[in-house]
Amino acid sequence: MNNDQLKQEILNLKKEKNAVILSHYYTTEEVQDVADFIGDSLALSRQAQQSTADIIVFAGVHFMAETAKVLSPSKKVLLPDMAAGCSLADSCRAEDLARFIADHPGRTVVSYVNTTVEVKALTDIVCTSSNAVDIVRSLPKDEKIIFGPDRNLGNYVKSLTGHEDMLVWDGACHVHERFSLERILDLKKEYPDAKLLTHPECKEPIRLVSDFIGSTAALLQYARTDSADTYIVATEPGVLYQMRRSCPGKRFIPAPPSDTACACNDCSYMKLVTLEKIYRVLRDESNEILLDEEVRKKAEKSILRMLSFSAKG
Ligand code: 13P
Ligand code: SF4
Repeated sequence: MNNDQLKQEILNLKKEKNAVILSHYYTTEEVQDVADFIGDSLALSRQAQQSTADIIVFAGVHFMAETAKVLSPSKKVLLPDMAAGCSLADSCRAEDLARFIADHPGRTVVSYVNTTVEVKALTDIVCTSSNAVDIVRSLPKDEKIIFGPDRNLGNYVKSLTGHEDMLVWDGACHVHERFSLERILDLKKEYPDAKLLTHPECKEPIRLVSDFIGSTAALLQYARTDSADTYIVATEPGVLYQMRRSCPGKRFIPAPPSDTACACNDCSYMKLVTLEKIYRVLRDESNEILLDEEVRKKAEKSILRMLSFSAKG
């Protein structure tokens, strides 16, 4: 089947099965085109929670589909490719975090949503890149915190909130750590009026020369409302598709990675999601996310704490 036929088949199956497709901004253009909703991690969690569909096809990575299942246990959540993982989630194994918590008792555990359900079950409050600063800021200044697993986001949060007693896990996302400061500075010379938009998973030297730091949705919103003509975007380049669609008169340049042999900085996990795989899992209702109920309930508590915080904020 060609892409047009696949799109039509997906549309038919969605109707027939009362299914929705939720997609992260980092998927390919054709995948974003068949999605019912495209968002950042926080918006996708909310959407999964509120959806009235019987089936959710999660066009994203494993931890995102797991989060959807935690919040919607009665729905069928399908992941187009079970190998769509996340290097950041992989950098924090539940057994290692459990040991770390035992070694540092009495601390509030704040975990980024880019974690497994088992890590979330050990967590007091989950956060995403759009609410991490506000969530930590809402905790008393003298609260002892463990923040994981992203060291870049953790150090960014620490610097903005002034929470001194925060132990930051030493994990990172390979995509966001790969950006080259030198090549970004070269681009800034070439486009002196360009603004640099950066995801907080990037390293500090890049954050320091940025004009705006935020989640994928926040970067998109900034570009929509800001008056500049040109932007250098330091996050996975999938988000540029919606930026270009929302702001047709503006120029968006993907920030280059350090490895000059790489033309772009794709998240290989996100790019595993294809139309063909979406079609197949919808047709066969395969690749279902199944969770241990005890673990799910514990993880739900820490995610709902985040969602109720965001609803107030
Ligand atoms: P957002 O919270 O901005 O969607 O980021 C998710 C992610 O995986 C970043 O690499
Ligand atoms: Fe994980 Fe990084 Fe890919 Fe986001 S971009 S899903 S943090 S590997």
